[in-house]
Amino acid sequence: MDFFSYRDHTLMCEEVPVREIAKQAGTPVYIYSAKTATEHVARIQEAFAPIDPLICFSMKANSNHTLLTRLLAQGVGCDVVSGGELFRALKAGCSPDKIVFAGVSKTDGEIETALKTGILMFNVESIAELENIDKIAGELGTPGRVALRLNPDVDPETHRYITTGKLENKFGIDMKVAAAVLDDWHFKNVSFVGFHLHIGSQITQTKPYAESITKTLALIEHARNKNHPVEYLNVGGGFGINYFGNEARTMPEYAEVIVPLLKDQGLKILFEPGRFIVGNAGILVTEALYIKESGAKRFVMCDAGMTDLMRPSLYQAYHKIWPVTSPIEFDSIADPEQDPRLVLTDVVGPICESGDFFAQDRRIPLVSRGDLLSVFSAGAYGFTMSSTYNSHPRPAEVLVEGSEWNVVRNRETYEDLIRDEVI
Ligand code: LLP
Repeated sequence: MDFFSYRDHTLMCEEVPVREIAKQAGTPVYIYSAKTATEHVARIQEAFAPIDPLICFSMKANSNHTLLTRLLAQGVGCDVVSGGELFRALKAGCSPDKIVFAGVSKTDGEIETALKTGILMFNVESIAELENIDKIAGELGTPGRVALRLNPDVDPETHRYITTGKLENKFGIDMKVAAAVLDDWHFKNVSFVGFHLHIGSQITQTKPYAESITKTLALIEHARNKNHPVEYLNVGGGFGINYFGNEARTMPEYAEVIVPLLKDQGLKILFEPGRFIVGNAGILVTEALYIKESGAKRFVMCDAGMTDLMRPSLYQAYHKIWPVTSPIEFDSIADPEQDPRLVLTDVVGPICESGDFFAQDRRIPLVSRGDLLSVFSAGAYGFTMSSTYNSHPRPAEVLVEGSEWNVVRNRETYEDLIRDEVI
């Protein structure tokens, strides 16, 4: 679901023509639809109303300040994984008691700041980290709350780079180890408040959730038998979205499986979705600078590249790409292989790497120099994973709200590139 649509053959973001934004803000540019993101939050809230979860938006997906403020206005909290994200969350007005902090390598400084801030809880990823938080909390005289992030050894059936809940992954604590720690709980400065799960990202099946929650419920029973009052279960994020068409489950489909498992367990439930909220709420708009026929290939060479959106290069991820203005409607294509209006194209960027592409051997309408292309579903893990490799300044970010739009992050300048260098 999103509020990007073609009207009179031109792409609109909510009520604003995308080409107008590109004309004024330049390209490459990320364009976010606030209404899409807030609608996604509402869908989670509705589907899971029977268990009344606190949704902690996973900021790594998109940490833009203004967009974040729109999500916070819906009552969501934040899932942070660094001191930087904690800083951003607080700056955007997130209440500390709605912040959870995961990540396998939290520094002493980050732990100290989070303790002093009074965050809701740390999601602890190892026993060594637990000992360290306990030590720092003791030194500061500031007690902390911890959830144990479990590694339930469940296959989320997604790309291996975004699989996090199998024992071969660095994340979470082996469930046997977690049980042993609870049996012999000797930490004085941190209180154990519950468990955290996050088994992977772009999960398009309900089964991995059912499996990991069922395993965790057994451990919760064990913990309660040992007199640990387990208060929270954080189910993590990972809900998949549609990049192709209909590959993802809907929120009611997830809820149908998850709600009955959690309903009468006496637990406060947390979720930390990122992609589901913002993934389809953003596009990256780029201009086709040159066209080149080379051997059997037709290359469309754009002003955006892997430095702006690295998902295709890193995960061979599919992102729909379509001209911002096109008489051919994407939805009118029955079979791209057979449609004579489409041309086999490689959509590539300016970076000096052969892995710098958005699409290879993709059949899209004929693109000419100067045309604008939209790379869809780029709202999650787009800008946040961008870099300035090849000294390409990062793109601008624009937030659309109805018929209004604003630049919410300026395009970086050449001066920005050397700002922190000591000359
Ligand atoms: N919670 C934790 C502890 C996480 O590590 C993540 C994502 C999330 C929540 C949010 O997951 P989501 O709901 O967005 O699936 N760069 C990759 C995705 C990496 C995900 C990392 N962790 C991509 O572009 O596909």
